[in-house]
Amino acid sequence: MLKIAHAANISTRTVKTESGNELELKYFDYKSTGFSPSETDLKKDCIVSGEYEGGLELWEGNVCLIKHLLDTQSQYSNSEDLRVLDVGCGQGQAGAILLSAGAQVTFQDFNKNVISDITPLCVNANLETWQSSSSNKKAHYIYGDWEELTKECSGEEIDRYDLILTADTVYNKSYYQKLYEYIRINLKESGTCLCSCQAYYYGCGGGEQEYIDFSDKFNEFDITKLQEFEDNNSIKRCVLGIKWKPESYTTSKEVPPPQEAETENFLSF
Ligand SMILES: C[S@@+](CC[C@H](N)C(=O)[O-])C[C@H]1O[C@@H](n2cnc3c(N)ncnc32)[C@H](O)[C@@H]1O
Repeated sequence: MLKIAHAANISTRTVKTESGNELELKYFDYKSTGFSPSETDLKKDCIVSGEYEGGLELWEGNVCLIKHLLDTQSQYSNSEDLRVLDVGCGQGQAGAILLSAGAQVTFQDFNKNVISDITPLCVNANLETWQSSSSNKKAHYIYGDWEELTKECSGEEIDRYDLILTADTVYNKSYYQKLYEYIRINLKESGTCLCSCQAYYYGCGGGEQEYIDFSDKFNEFDITKLQEFEDNNSIKRCVLGIKWKPESYTTSKEVPPPQEAETENFLSF
């Protein structure tokens, strides 16, 4: 079980977009605090599968998602009626941007200690920095595995979301089914999921195209690349927009059977 100190160590980073938008971002710099949040040495392993999934850190996927939100902010300037779900939120800065625009935001992380100690700390620090009149009262914090959280959602009664944010969550192919089902059960018919990801992630076999291919098998969602990010030092990143295909929306929890990719038929004699 993770043990997280309550002591805050909040640092500041300025996020700048190519088109000149800028935001001062507060984040929790847990490595500089010197405490070990896990019995596993997280300095060597930034993710311990099934135990700790990386929520203590601010990942670059979140920073790219924030850049995308800054560049498209006119869409979210008056978000009083918007319901937002930040899936695998970690420190929660992307969701905090929507919270500061007036939306109701649910922050979800795998680890209880992250969601109880770190996410609200960072969300509040950012709301203060941005001198937002929005309050944490419109924020909800939930934790757990996507598979369990999907089981807890029951049929028609689910209060679905207009906007789902998710950053650096497609790194592990073995999580794709439960991530897909969690997004699927929570996205409104007219909703959009913004998925920020790397072209590929070393180690777990996941990446942008892998997730698109996985999703395409079920033929329920259209996925569009909305923005690309590239610098000389790192792997390509992007923000994908995921929307229900017209007439595919369903309240059923049953995922349709996957359609295998068409292969060429060779006649054998
Ligand atoms: C690499 S971290 C990214 C955190 C944050 N979105 C960011 O970009 O800074 C992956 C996030 O996905 C969540 N996550 C991964 N696997 C999960 C699972 N099986 N069920 C629920 N959440 C999961 C973790 O809680 C973690 O916050």
